Amino acid sequence: MYKTKIDLSEKVRRNVVVILNDRLADAIDLQSQIKQAHWNVKGPHFIALHELFDKISAVILDQVDEIAERITSLGGTAEGTVAVAAKRSKLKNYPLSITSGKDHLFYLSTQVAAFGKAVRAGIDDTDELGDKDTADLFTGISRDLDKYLWFLEAHLQDKV
Ligand SMILES: [Fe+2]
Repeated sequence: MYKTKIDLSEKVRRNVVVILNDRLADAIDLQSQIKQAHWNVKGPHFIALHELFDKISAVILDQVDEIAERITSLGGTAEGTVAVAAKRSKLKNYPLSITSGKDHLFYLSTQVAAFGKAVRAGIDDTDELGDKDTADLFTGISRDLDKYLWFLEAHLQDKV
């Protein structure tokens, strides 16, 4: 950890940085998975899905940057290489063989939901650790993930 005049103890910062680095890895992994879908989706809704996936990928890339810069704001080291993300990410591997829009929507919505669940847990965890700003960051990210989960699922949803 680096020295900083921020009014949060080193212990709080250290614990929060661990959570942030875990979610950073997930976000980097997820962003690459969405690009994978953007590049490989095929079928009658190609252009709509190709463009939607690119938009969501850009949203996640912004989240990567915000998470990483919160880590450095706290005096931590953002561990944001692809190699580290691949090892640390809690997300499942994205299947490389799928092509149809429906399959990509199913897998992407599953991954966005899994990341969303971990981020939502991070809201309470970082709040309890005493860092309301990171909790607020996670809250904003979580709200965006809920929205883009809807964008993906709306293609697949039926009433229960
Ligand atoms: Fe592209």
